Amino acid sequence: MLKYILQEMKVGDQKFMYNLLEEYVKTNLSVTVLTLKPFNEYFKIYNSNNLKTYIVIIKEENAGFVHITKEGEIGYYLEKKYEGKGIASRAVKEMLHLNPMERYYSVVNIKNIRSSELVEGLGFLPKGITYEKISNN
Ligand SMILES: CC(C)(COP(=O)(O)OP(=O)(O)OC[C@H]1O[C@@H](n2cnc3c(N)ncnc32)[C@H](O)[C@@H]1OP(=O)(O)O)[C@@H](O)C(=O)NCCC(=O)NCCS
Repeated sequence: MLKYILQEMKVGDQKFMYNLLEEYVKTNLSVTVLTLKPFNEYFKIYNSNNLKTYIVIIKEENAGFVHITKEGEIGYYLEKKYEGKGIASRAVKEMLHLNPMERYYSVVNIKNIRSSELVEGLGFLPKGITYEKISNN
């Protein structure tokens, strides 16, 4: 099993995180964020949201990150080359253990099979559907 460590996010990790998020937004799998705000603006809001963020490190290389809000909403992002190895699942599980709460949730696009399988594997159950209407002004 590939070993990883979780390390609390530092300011120097922001560029790495932003790059991963840019790739993710391009996939159109994001439910809430459709376009990423510019770097400085993005992290100004991000840092004011009081998220707990951990960088997933494999062999001294940044492989991804996981985060959790005070309300228990979780997020998880991995570099493509590390996908499908159970790392995200183990990292999220560890993050939940480090941040014990009564309730956790994740907002997942129904097309995001990997993400659904990940949370379902950790005992999350589906709840609700997000409806969306895009205006074509
Ligand atoms: C979502 C993401 C973190 C999942 O990473 P991952 O490496 O596939 O996760 P894991 O290897 O830990 O797999 C988690 C589960 O998904 C399932 N899975 C893995 N690869 C899969 C695939 N190709 N198809 C379907 N299911 C798959 C496995 O069943 C696994 O369950 P298990 O732990 O019981 O074996 C990763 O795909 C990613 O970074 N995606 C882009 C960002 C993103 O979508 N974030 C979530 C926003 S809601």
